[in-house]
Amino acid sequence: MPLDLTNGYQHITVRPFAGSMGAEIDGVDLANLSDEVFAELKSAWLEHQVVVLRNQKITPEQQIAFAHRFGEIHHHPFMKGMDAYPDILEIKKEPTDSYTFGAAWHTDQMFNPKPAMATMLYAHEVPSAGGDTMFANMYDAYDALSDGMKTMLADVKGWCVGGKAADRGSRYGSNPDMASKVRDPGDLQTESAHPLIRTHPETGRKALYVGSHVKRFDGFTEAESDGMLKYLKAHSIRPEFTCRVRWQPGSLTLWDNRCVQHYAVPDYTERRRMHRITICGDVPF
Ligand code: SIN
Repeated sequence: MPLDLTNGYQHITVRPFAGSMGAEIDGVDLANLSDEVFAELKSAWLEHQVVVLRNQKITPEQQIAFAHRFGEIHHHPFMKGMDAYPDILEIKKEPTDSYTFGAAWHTDQMFNPKPAMATMLYAHEVPSAGGDTMFANMYDAYDALSDGMKTMLADVKGWCVGGKAADRGSRYGSNPDMASKVRDPGDLQTESAHPLIRTHPETGRKALYVGSHVKRFDGFTEAESDGMLKYLKAHSIRPEFTCRVRWQPGSLTLWDNRCVQHYAVPDYTERRRMHRITICGDVPF
């Protein structure tokens, strides 16, 4: 009997590509997106957390319009968007650059009081091999914790820190294009305490909420929280919780920062150029 890849969807085909999460979706043309197809795509995204749409031919205006279907656009407090499209952060790495933006396990702008809900990355130029993005499923990471650990962490918050613009500037030094986009966040808050276990506002599922921005537990000393935090960060990216997206020009990947961490794999030396938009989220609870 042929495999049923519709999973109950009428307009799209959903093809999971890893055991934990992640699905390629067929039947979507982002340049011409009906409300019915968008509704199914959004359901598939909530179900699979990371969705990949291949062979999309969209202009920056069309990517921005697609982002607006999810909500307001979130602007990175430390990074300037493109001059012509301030809603889009262009992520670029040249063969001569060594710094790779996003090469640490994290969720986007977790240090904001309202971290980005979702991120969409659209590939313009990709290396012939390498430059994949990896994702880790924070529902599975939570579910795999012992009952004792879940109880202990239930009311604990983690301090998430965005660092300083000057530090970013010097870190990005070997990638002049990204360094040129660093800006001072001004009065914007770039340190926030968020629950280590958060509840997804749309699915109601609990997710472990850790990543490289989390520096210590709220109300604990660094010495007290260091070991536990190190354990949770390592636990959260166990290979069985992950999937990996291999890019092609025209691929658009959309992920849910409320239940996913990601990591830009820095294993390539050819040009890579992506357009990223993040969508505003709520205060985590
Ligand atoms: C990021 O948003 O962290 C960048 C991801 C990537 O370039 O693969």
